[in-house]
Amino acid sequence: MKKIATVFAAVAALALVSASVAGCAKKAPETRLSAITKAKKIVLGTSADYPPYEFHTQIDGKDTIVGFDIAIAREIAKDLGVELEIKDMDFDGLLAALASGNIDMVIAGMTPSEERRANVDFSDIYYFAEHGVMIRKADEALYAADVASLKDKMLGAQRGAIQVGLAKTRIKGVADDQAEAPHAQVKELGKLPDLVMELKNSKIDAVVAELPVAKAYLGANADLMLASYTFRDDDGGSAIAVKKGQADLVAAINKTVARLIAEGKIEAFVAEASESVEY
Ligand code: ARG
Repeated sequence: MKKIATVFAAVAALALVSASVAGCAKKAPETRLSAITKAKKIVLGTSADYPPYEFHTQIDGKDTIVGFDIAIAREIAKDLGVELEIKDMDFDGLLAALASGNIDMVIAGMTPSEERRANVDFSDIYYFAEHGVMIRKADEALYAADVASLKDKMLGAQRGAIQVGLAKTRIKGVADDQAEAPHAQVKELGKLPDLVMELKNSKIDAVVAELPVAKAYLGANADLMLASYTFRDDDGGSAIAVKKGQADLVAAINKTVARLIAEGKIEAFVAEASESVEY
């Protein structure tokens, strides 16, 4: 009798275990992509101080964020059949916002550097640009021709951006493995317009930014010019960042990126955005 009871209990326990296993199998863990589809909304994080990538403009008297990154985001939302919400913040806050789940993706001309790859996943690269150096026109004879002329000068780059490292390694001559250490002559500010202002006011002597962005700022500031030298970085271009481990979301984004590249749409978006930059 005792034996029968034990067998019965064992069978009952087994049934319970298999039932709960089956229950688990039915309810797949919710991915970010399924949450996006369910909410019918994808939240983009960007730093809209980077024309023609993303910038503020007036449309029908209303402040609006536009740019080719935003056009790409709209296509991603469209392909997913969801709405797009845009959150604008300082560039150096974007990855934390991604980690905390405040945003679903970052499109901000972000370079998929190795260091960032350790913390987030990236889409395929959708655009490539070199980096340019903005100086004052009045200093043309001093700094325009030779990068060595800026070695002991005050430089500026956006906080959290790879240009901080470029300013140190390519202009200051700092070793690659020291690029993280603060440098007294590399000023880091959260917003690019503030750096441009410091340049105009002679607080700093040069600003490093992606070449198309530097050109956009020059168009609006006749007292500034580009130095003749440019830099290429090893990480090669801009990609879209998402929280680590969201393979289905990355795949969906890559599908849209591939379509846009195949249709020549990225170039069209870049041209359109560049035209709408206000000078
Ligand atoms: N490509 C550079 C980087 O990743 C700078 C990007 C700055 N983007 C912006 N929207 N302000 O680090």
